[in-house]
Amino acid sequence: MPTARVGILTISDRGASGVYEDRSGPVIRELVTGRLGAEVVQSTIIPDDFDTIRRTLTDWADRLALDLILTSGGTGFAPRDITPEATRAVIQREAPGLVFAMLRDSLSVTPHAMLSRMVAGIRGRTLIVNLPGSPKAARENLETILPALPHALELLRDDPAAERGHQASTG
Ligand code: MTE
Repeated sequence: MPTARVGILTISDRGASGVYEDRSGPVIRELVTGRLGAEVVQSTIIPDDFDTIRRTLTDWADRLALDLILTSGGTGFAPRDITPEATRAVIQREAPGLVFAMLRDSLSVTPHAMLSRMVAGIRGRTLIVNLPGSPKAARENLETILPALPHALELLRDDPAAERGHQASTG
């Protein structure tokens, strides 16, 4: 399969205004390049603003045709946490299995995992997955879904190699 093109979108008011440095973005970058062999072609920090999130996700999916967009932050219960709502406004098909797996694994780490309202879904041929904002939580959640991502991206591309993924998963 050609190298997957990935975007990393950190969503944080304080990160975007420079009060906090973005620590989850580099963790996600290291995992997608090192473990997925993907190329990070876009990464930026934006505030917890519905229209900015919606516009950025739409642009990266439709114009840049990224294979995968990983967001980080804004999935909790605070009034400004609207990443899941903005993601839901953009996706055309939900991918609840990814969220289920992340919550299942995360709950064995901390009961606070149940406070993440993460969404995962598909727009066109782009998979969009929300991750929580702390570097630790972003890493733990991404590590859960990493093994399924190559096959997910093959299926989205309608790649004939996807057949091998089916066999691999049953053998
Ligand atoms: N998931 C894992 N695996 N590890 C964690 O430490 N932290 C939780 C949760 N998910 C956590 C986790 C906490 S404390 C919160 S508030 C929610 O993610 C939402 O985080 P966010 O608002 O930064 O997106």
